[in-house]
Amino acid sequence: MSRIVIIGSGIAGLFASLRLADENNEILVVTKQRPKDSSTNWAQGGIAGILDRTDGEAMEAHIADTLASGDGLCDEEIVRMVVTEAGDRIRDLLSIGVKFEEDDDGFHLVKEGGHSARRILHAKDATGAEIERALTEAVAEHPNIEVRPHTLGVDLIQRVHGDPSQGVKGIWCLDLDSGRMDAIPADAIMIATGGTGRLWERTTNPPVASGDGLAMAVRAGAIARDMAFVQFHPTALMLQGDRPFLITEALRGEGGVLLDHKGLEKYRAGDKEPEVYSFTLDSSPQGSLATRDVVARACDRVMKRSGFDHVWLITDHLDEKLLKNHFPTIESRLNIAGLSLGRDPLPVAPAAHYMVGGLSVDIDARVLMDDGTIIPGLYGIGEVACTGMHGANRLASNSLLEAVVFANRAADHMIVNPINLIEEVPEWRAEGLPHLEEHAPLVRDLETLRKTMTDDVGIVRRFSRLERARRMLTLLSKEVDIIWRRSLPTRDLIELRNLVLVATLITEDALSRKENAGLHYNTDLI
Ligand code: SIN
Repeated sequence: MSRIVIIGSGIAGLFASLRLADENNEILVVTKQRPKDSSTNWAQGGIAGILDRTDGEAMEAHIADTLASGDGLCDEEIVRMVVTEAGDRIRDLLSIGVKFEEDDDGFHLVKEGGHSARRILHAKDATGAEIERALTEAVAEHPNIEVRPHTLGVDLIQRVHGDPSQGVKGIWCLDLDSGRMDAIPADAIMIATGGTGRLWERTTNPPVASGDGLAMAVRAGAIARDMAFVQFHPTALMLQGDRPFLITEALRGEGGVLLDHKGLEKYRAGDKEPEVYSFTLDSSPQGSLATRDVVARACDRVMKRSGFDHVWLITDHLDEKLLKNHFPTIESRLNIAGLSLGRDPLPVAPAAHYMVGGLSVDIDARVLMDDGTIIPGLYGIGEVACTGMHGANRLASNSLLEAVVFANRAADHMIVNPINLIEEVPEWRAEGLPHLEEHAPLVRDLETLRKTMTDDVGIVRRFSRLERARRMLTLLSKEVDIIWRRSLPTRDLIELRNLVLVATLITEDALSRKENAGLHYNTDLI
């Protein structure tokens, strides 16, 4: 029996916790808010995968679409492995109690950008919430799993301070209710903290997405890779005064079309199908259903050209009843603003959605160092990890799949190679540190950070802007470091420290690239 700490409570963390707990390990899941505050819970579209392993043609098509979307930078071995294991993992989810939408022919499958076929299982437009519901219920009933909410992982505790090759033996966590810093010993640690959408002013991510796990692993000697590849979702609903709300790509899979303001006028005056008028056709023959990097860039281009802060998503040519039945979450959100599917043009714009880069991990999700060797006892799964599956641009609905496949592989690896090395862990270096008196500078610094990333490290980049971001990040990093050394940590301070580090990794990777690929688009390199 090992004692394993899992940081994060999305699909990856909860799935792994169940697998490990079934093998009699003692699992502690620490999570910043409540389990349901994860990005998984906000995922609408679905989980891509072929259930029948013997259907070679369907499997090869899924592999080909993933590789094409990744723009030449996917690791094909990883893609093949994930696509091959998809059916088994989806069946695992079903046996845990996840209910996907069915019709007379079996599971109802949808399509999203970059997919050449319908192969995405879904629970209407709330797939993530359904997966999270089933996993959370199973976890709550498991005697070997403790979930500790309102607990923020701060830093990993190395077995030998300053020597990552000796592995990790625990984690310092801030209890957000009491403000107490706990030192928690562990045989192994699994990081499943998701992404970092909070770095941008517009994001589809929940506010918890502040790169905590990635930053703490990097501070403990891990290497992050492909950080320049940040995926912006093309269609977040943009309503005055509201945070962006994801409009799933599955809506375009059912025929939704993107138009700019002129295109909308022409469509209204003309007699053709709306796609004919779509600006996305200038970028790809797949039009509104091209891969996400291409569509987001096309939106960004027409928005900059026209001066409008959104484009339009059109659904009035589609079956209203069908849309309302398939997308009830979106419909109820729209209704609050007096809008409706099948009727009104929806104002949408790109928003930061998914971190394609992340902690470099091997095929068993073990976290790697710069020299390609592992940090013993440290695993990374889900969005925080970079496995090579997504290359330069993730194919829609491949992320829940990758998360569950790698959570399973990490658990298998831990089960076959158990670590039983619980050691004493040192208390946090808190002695004598005062409480932070003013939070206002942190708030200002966070605003500056998000503005910098939005203006200078967004969908379209230039060296001069990236260098400007580098200068700003150097300054912010120094400021945060001063506060960090002088006061007791708070949630705001911990998150800002992590965000600045992740922003720096993204900017430096973007600056180092000599070629454009997928989501990295630097106009100086064209
Ligand atoms: C969506 O539903 O459009 C998002 C799904 C994904 O990010 O894979």
